[in-house]
Amino acid sequence: MKLDFPRYTERLGAVSIHAVQRIYELDSGKSKGFLSSHQTIKKFDYDEISNILHDMAIIIPVKEEKLKLLEGVLSGIPNECLVVIVSNSPRSPVDRFEMEVGTVRQLGRFMDKRLVMIHQRDPALGDILKKLGYDSILASDGKVRNGKAEGMVVGLLIARMYQKDYVGFIDSDNYVPGAVNEYVKIFAAGFGMATTPYSNVRVSWVFKPKVRNNSLQFSKWGRVSEITNKNLNALLSNITGFETEVIKTGNSGEHALSMPLAESLHYSSGYSIEPYEFVDVFEKFGGLFASQYPKMIEKGVEIFQIETRNPHFHEDKGRAHLNDMLEAALATIAGSKACPAELKESLEEQMAQLAETKSHRKTDYRKKYPIIEPINTVPGDDFAKELREKAETFSRFGGLR
Ligand code: GDP
Ligand code: CO
Repeated sequence: MKLDFPRYTERLGAVSIHAVQRIYELDSGKSKGFLSSHQTIKKFDYDEISNILHDMAIIIPVKEEKLKLLEGVLSGIPNECLVVIVSNSPRSPVDRFEMEVGTVRQLGRFMDKRLVMIHQRDPALGDILKKLGYDSILASDGKVRNGKAEGMVVGLLIARMYQKDYVGFIDSDNYVPGAVNEYVKIFAAGFGMATTPYSNVRVSWVFKPKVRNNSLQFSKWGRVSEITNKNLNALLSNITGFETEVIKTGNSGEHALSMPLAESLHYSSGYSIEPYEFVDVFEKFGGLFASQYPKMIEKGVEIFQIETRNPHFHEDKGRAHLNDMLEAALATIAGSKACPAELKESLEEQMAQLAETKSHRKTDYRKKYPIIEPINTVPGDDFAKELREKAETFSRFGGLR
């Protein structure tokens, strides 16, 4: 893969947010290093990418997606990666989860891939986390709460069980396996460029095509992304005093974290997890508040944003879903202790406009989007042992224990 170095970088305390980087070649052949004498382009050869992928888990959250789509996504993930599927599909009247397991088992045999699967609402999983004191992810029924973020955090706990150094997240509703393959390589390239153990690689889609008047329109930004990015940039501008548009990936569902960073972040539930990553990183490492992580502050945290060559085609989930996502994003920015009063007011106005009735104004967003504690509060060995012993839905393929 051949891509440019970041053109510019915004800095906030120990955090570097790199501007969007472009890919010049998806595959630059079997040579590494720099392009000729000028060091603005970086090349990654097969081996460099492959070495990083060996240490990477790809976490796929699934809820009631078409099996054909899940199958395509799995086929796009390079063989070196461990795949962790966390499903929240219904188990009755038809057991959709069992259908997913069947599909993965059959495919796994042909792919010879290392795959693990679990159901997010497995009662034993809830019991284990309860016992280990990880209440912030649990619902009142004692199981892990519904929600995409909750599924992703379960995925993180499992990736850590297998000693992975990097974790990438990829949605299961993607129509283009080639795009999935590119996301994973983008993650690897980002980690390959990082100069600190604490890094976040976020995918920026080159196009998100829509059908209008019977033809494909290659639009660049959806409404939700546009508004989320605008407000995240406003947060950053308000703190630094310099206006910026550096953030382009506030809602990116395709993103990756180095494990040492992933372990120490708080996560916001449901669909607010992606924008909240920025908020949490600013709060923890932006130099605004006293830090619990002096070592991380010393080494710094890097955020990469890399633009794809493949357009993004996924399932259209409708307008209500988009409004929910937007509300979640705005609420997490407004809820930040780093958010200045003026921006908070503007965010609350934007949320009120989204809400259909006035009663929504009284919503307690902290309750609606609870914060999940860092996974470094969960003892890894106990979790692994108990999960292997007790969780019935914890399925492993490809010779994994
Ligand atoms: P969008 O693409 O950001 O509009 O959101 P999607 O609705 O496509 O969801 C992103 C991914 O999360 C998809 O793969 C969903 O199947 C998955 N997902 C959504 N809700 C949940 C959930 O509660 N649990 C899990 N494990 N996955 C979920
Ligand atoms: Co989607």
